[in-house]
Amino acid sequence: MNENSGRTISLVTSNREMKQLLAELDRFTATEVPVLLIGETGVGKELFAEYIHLSSHRSGRPFVRLSLSSLPESLLASELFGHEKGSFTSASTEKKGLFEIASGGTLFLDDIDDVPMEIQTKLLRVLESGEIFRVGGIRPIAVDVRLISATKVDLKLLASEGKFRSDLYYRILGYPVKIPPLRDRLDDIPLLVRHFIRHYAPSKPVSVHPDAMKAMELHAWPGNIRELRHVVQRLVYLAEEEILFQHLPEDIRLTADKPGSQSDLCLNCLIEEKMNHEDIMACLEKKLIEFAVKESGGNKTQAAKRLGLSPSTFRDKLTRYGLSEPDQTTS
Ligand SMILES: Nc1ncnc2c1ncn2[C@@H]1O[C@H](COP(=O)(O)OP(=O)(O)OP(=O)(O)O)[C@@H](O)[C@H]1O
Ligand SMILES: [Mg+2]
Repeated sequence: MNENSGRTISLVTSNREMKQLLAELDRFTATEVPVLLIGETGVGKELFAEYIHLSSHRSGRPFVRLSLSSLPESLLASELFGHEKGSFTSASTEKKGLFEIASGGTLFLDDIDDVPMEIQTKLLRVLESGEIFRVGGIRPIAVDVRLISATKVDLKLLASEGKFRSDLYYRILGYPVKIPPLRDRLDDIPLLVRHFIRHYAPSKPVSVHPDAMKAMELHAWPGNIRELRHVVQRLVYLAEEEILFQHLPEDIRLTADKPGSQSDLCLNCLIEEKMNHEDIMACLEKKLIEFAVKESGGNKTQAAKRLGLSPSTFRDKLTRYGLSEPDQTTS
């Protein structure tokens, strides 16, 4: 929890790796070192950025965020560095850029991997010199910002492929923080579920049935904490006093299947459906493979490893069960 300047940040975790990461990060928050946040969508990069800002001596000054993937290249330079009156057709007045607006505070550049080459060169110049030039301007303006950047992809790899300037990479790297996906910190799930229940239903006591919690712990959460947050938001309105397994969204129910009920389903197939041993085993194997793929966030190489199967055997099984659509991690 961080409560500087009246704003409260709730960074909920009980996971050992996360706590260690935060303890190490705390040694850098008060410094001027740039921070690069690395993690999948919804893991909390923006929350971390605000946490760092509020823990620093800049907390009383602006925290300014810009997603570099949300703007066309033509607008990006004027958004970051501002422009002088008349510098282009629609520039009827002068405008401060975010570097100027964030002065004294923190500038959070989200999706830094998406920044076009031309802007990368300009960014590097600003970070080296501490001065910006507005678009159409000739006068250097000194800026004082702490930079926090975020990326979902491996910037070092982009740099090695020539798609990101290496010198800019090392300039923004400062202290790199790799935030683990939710599926790698399952112990955080019950805590986060309760945290969001309290958030969305502060005056209504809502409990969670153990089957529902178990199912949520088995889900792969590709959208990480954002996905969990929205699921809990819906659940508190759906459930009266207790969130039950049947309240969960279908994808979570299907992956997890109600604990203890898989053997009942197999018995049902044997007795009611009159399926033979071979068909029941195939059905179980298909479910197991689907589960492993989902648990590995769609990464089939990882799923094969997890099951102890060679890539070729795993591929054959995917084809046999009609599960061989493209790998989500490489598409
Ligand atoms: N440890 C946490 N405790 C409580 N809430 C969290 C935590 N981590 C993330 N959240 C919440 O989850 C949601 C997603 O977090 P955030 O926007 O910071 O993710 P992100 O990594 O920036 O995602 P994206 O890459 O899609 O921009 C937000 O509502 C945030 O408040
Ligand atoms: Mg974000």
